[in-house]
This record gives sequence, C-alpha cells and structure tokens, in this order.
Amino acid sequence: MVQRIVTGMRSTGKLHLGHYLGVIQNLVELQNKYESFFFVADWHALTTKYDKTETLRQDINDVVIDWLASGIDPDKATIYVQSLVPEIAELNIYLGMITPQNWVERDPTLKDMAKILRTKEGLNSQIGFGLMGYPVLMTADILMFNADAVPVGSDQIAHIEITRDIARRFNNIYKTDYFKEPAALLNDCALICGLDGNKMGKSFQNDIKISDTEEVTSKKIMTAITDRSRLRKDDPGHPDECEVVFKYWKIFGSEEQIAQVRSECEKGQRGCADCKRQLGALINEKLRPIREKRKYYEAHPEEVRRIILEGSEKARIQARKTLLDVRELIGMYQK
Ligand code: TRP
Ligand code: SF4
Repeated sequence: MVQRIVTGMRSTGKLHLGHYLGVIQNLVELQNKYESFFFVADWHALTTKYDKTETLRQDINDVVIDWLASGIDPDKATIYVQSLVPEIAELNIYLGMITPQNWVERDPTLKDMAKILRTKEGLNSQIGFGLMGYPVLMTADILMFNADAVPVGSDQIAHIEITRDIARRFNNIYKTDYFKEPAALLNDCALICGLDGNKMGKSFQNDIKISDTEEVTSKKIMTAITDRSRLRKDDPGHPDECEVVFKYWKIFGSEEQIAQVRSECEKGQRGCADCKRQLGALINEKLRPIREKRKYYEAHPEEVRRIILEGSEKARIQARKTLLDVRELIGMYQK
C-alpha cells in the first residue's frame, strides 16, 4: 500500500532559497512516491503572532504560490490550510486530555521558541496557552491523517518524538492500535547558509527569496562574504574558506563549473566581484522557470484560492472519518 506523509509549514510569507533547497525540492520528489498532505500551518503561526495578523492571509497565499511555482502539484498532493480543516481542532482537544503537562514543558524546541520570543519581545512577553499546546496541535495535524512519515527538518525531531509518544498513549488508554507512530523523514539536503555565512532566515536579512527579482538577487549576491584573507584579485584564494559564494557554487554549479571556479580562484585568476556576478547569473537562470510560474499564480489569485479550497475539502473528508473513529474509540456521544 502507498504510504502516507503529512507535513506543514508555518505561514511565514514568501519563502527563500533555504526553504526551496532544504524542504520544497524534497516535497516535489516525495509527492510522486507517497500519498501526500501538505498544509500551511496558520494556527501554529498564531501561537506566536496572534497580535500580528494583518498579513496572515497574504502570507498563506505566498507560501502556497511558492509551493505551486516550485512544482508541488495539486493533482498529486493534497494542499490545504490547517484552519480550513477545523476537525483538527477537535482532535487537538482529545489529544490534549491525554498529554501530561510535563511532556510539553520539557519539549526542547518549544523552549527554544520561548527563548527567541523573549529576546525579541522583551522579558515580559508571556508564553500563551496556545504556544504551550504547539506540540499537541502538531500531533493532531499528523495523526488526523494517520501518517506513516513526516518530512521535517532536524529542528522538528523532538516534536515528532512527542507525536509518537502521544499516539502510543492514546492506543494504550483506549486499548486500540488505531494510530500509527509516525517516523520523521529528515530533509537530507544540506542547509544553505545566508549571505553573511549564518543560517538563512528572513529575520536575519541574509536571504534570497524565490520571489526576488533578478536584479535584487544579483545585488544581494554581491554583498555575500568571500574568503576574507584575499585582498587583491590576483592573490591566490581559498575556495573552501569562502563560506558562502563557493558553497553556493557547489549547490548550483555543474561539476565542470565548480572545478573551474576552484582552480581559477586558487591560482589567483578570478576576482571575487566577477565570481559573484557569474554566480548571480547562474542562480537567476536556475530560478527563472520557477519565478515565471510564480508570476502566473500571482496574476491568477482565483486559481490559487480554488486549489486551497478544493484541497482543504479533500482533507476534511479524511479528517471527518478519523474523528468519527476517534469519538467512537474514546466513547463520545455519537450522532
Ligand atoms: N512545526 C513545524 C515547523 O515549524 C510546522 C508544522 C506544524 C508541522 N504542524 C506540522 C510540520 C505537522 C510537520 C507536521 O516547521
Ligand atoms: Fe570565493 Fe569566488 Fe572569491 Fe574564490 S573568487 S574567494 S570562490 S568569491
């Protein structure tokens, strides 16, 4: 039988190359092999941004448009918005009942999020009840579709552990084997670093967006750090210490191009400015078809909306079935 995967992305707005290379490319492959449920986790976004909802709708659209432009195919994968499948909230209630409080309190990912929130918003910021429930809601997302596996980054492993624990506890309490214990399917693509050598992220202003124009992309690449020991163009360079530019070459270039950049750099035959100009052109060339598709969807918002609504309805059919079973297993009043 075909195995099923579920994964969500918080609605953070326009996605960057780190998302594209690390996550989306992977999903484009996986949708051919698995029955796939991909959703925008807007409730999860609310756990920390409940007071900044002006851009929420547009952010959801932008994520979906980036997915579609990158090759996620609504005929292969079910694409939906979490809050348009309200059954998930009901499952969240049942799972919350059986989850011991200290399981969520010791969740390391949640602790990290709380720390970031505190540094950003100041010490007085409160951790909401909703944020405490983050891993339980995520469990509801996954168990609702009884996923075999969950494609995620390594930062989400702790959450998947909790999901497995909650699934097991449900099965124990209600004497069933209804829920599978899903496995994490780790993105194996190496993280792409930002232009300053740190992790790429929109809050660090070191990212290249899928939706950036070619001009902006080229300009951003020109700001990337290079081998700092090089002062003049004919100084021999050290590509392996050129953390950003050469790393990008290794991701986007052909074997031949990579070898050429390495050899010219090491021999002092390649200036860093030229090197970055060429790299910018190469990245733009690779992203061109995706960006064109992106423009198409931007110009056809009604089509994006239809995809979201149809996907969400499809997801709900499965969700209703699961809920009916879960209510029966727990012993809830049935209609
Ligand atoms: N917590 C995930 C992240 O921040 C997003 C997410 C929410 C998710 N629900 C999920 C991922 C269910 C996988 C499965 O990236
Ligand atoms: Fe890096 Fe290219 Fe400069 Fe070499 S020539 S240090 S690879 S930017």
